[in-house]
Amino acid sequence: MRFAVLGSGFWATEVHAASLAAHPDAELVGIWGRDGAKASAAGERHGVPGTTDLDALLADVDAVSISLPPSVQPDLAVRAAQAGCHLLLEKPVALSVADADRVAGAVADAGVASVVFLTYRFRDSTATWLEQAARSTLVGGHVTWLASTFAADSPFRQSVWRAEPGAPLWDLGPHALSLLEPALGPVVAAQGARAADGTVNVVLEHEGGATSTVTVSATASPLSAGEEFWVHGDAGRLVLLPPPARSAHEAHAVAVSELQAAALTGGAHPCDAAYGAAQVRVLAAAERAVEAGARQTV
Ligand SMILES: NC(=O)c1ccc[n+]([C@@H]2O[C@H](COP(=O)([O-])OP(=O)(O)OC[C@H]3O[C@@H](n4cnc5c(N)ncnc54)[C@H](OP(=O)(O)O)[C@@H]3O)[C@@H](O)[C@H]2O)c1
Repeated sequence: MRFAVLGSGFWATEVHAASLAAHPDAELVGIWGRDGAKASAAGERHGVPGTTDLDALLADVDAVSISLPPSVQPDLAVRAAQAGCHLLLEKPVALSVADADRVAGAVADAGVASVVFLTYRFRDSTATWLEQAARSTLVGGHVTWLASTFAADSPFRQSVWRAEPGAPLWDLGPHALSLLEPALGPVVAAQGARAADGTVNVVLEHEGGATSTVTVSATASPLSAGEEFWVHGDAGRLVLLPPPARSAHEAHAVAVSELQAAALTGGAHPCDAAYGAAQVRVLAAAERAVEAGARQTV
C-alpha cells in the first residue's frame, strides 16, 4: 500500500514516516506539510519528496498517515477520504463532535478503511491485558498520565494546541479511553474538576455500572511525571505496565498493517474513525463536566 504522511513535525517525521519507510508491506511515497522547506527536510530524512501540493500527493497514494493538530486533521482527512485514500488518523480525531462526525461520515461515504493511532492498542502487552480483563468481573479502573509536555527536553514543547487549558484531556484522554472502554464498557457519563495547576480529574461511568477515574496533566513537574493504568475486580488489580521508551514506531507499524488488513477485507477496525468520533463525544462530555462542575451524560 502506497502511503503519504501529512505533517512534517517531530511525530510525523520520527514516528509516522520512520515506521512507514521501514515497513515491509508499505511504501512511503511522500510527505506533505504547509511549509515547503520543512516538508522537503522531512522527506529528505526518509528519501522521499516533500511537497505542499496535497491534491497531487493524494492522487498518487492509496493511504495517508496524518500527524497534524486535531483542529487541522478533520478537513484534510475528509479531503483524503474523498480522494479514495484509506486513513491512519491521529488521536483525538477532532476537537468537536461535529468535526469528528464529519470525518467518520466521509470514511463511511467513501468506503475507505480507517484506523486511529491509539498507540497502546497496537501493542501485544495491551492485548494480553485486555484478555485478562475480559476473563474477570471488573468493577472499576484508573489511569494517571502526568506529562511534562513543555519541559525543555520534550519534543512537544512547541505544540500550540497542547497549551490550551482543556488540552490534557484531549491529548491524553484518548489513550485512557482506549484502555478503559474495551475493559469496562462504553462511557455513558462523566464528572470532573480541574486543579489550579491545570491537572484534570475525571470520574467516568461505564455502561453496565463500572466506574473509572482518570487524572491527566500536561504541566506535571518532571519528577512526578509518569503513567499508571489498571482495572480491578474479582481477579485483583490488573496493572498494565507502561511501554518501553521510544517504542511508538513499532506500534505505528502494527497500525499500518491493521489498516491494510481492514482495507483488503473491507472489515471494520475497533479503533476506526467511528470509534474515534465516539471518543470525542466522551471527551466533550468530560470537558463540559469540568467546566460546569456537574455530571454530564455522553
Ligand atoms: N498516538 C500518540 O501516541 C501520539 C503521540 C504524539 C503526538 N500524537 C498526535 O500527533 C499529532 C501531531 O502532534 P505533534 O506532536 O507533531 O504536534 P502538533 O502541535 O499537533 O503538530 C505540529 C505540526 O503540525 C503542523 N501544523 C500546525 N498547524 C497547521 C496547519 N494549520 N496546517 C498544516 N500544518 C499545521 C506544524 O507545522 P509547522 O512545522 O509548519 O509549524 C507542525 O509540523 C497530534 O494529533 C497529536 O495528538 C500522537
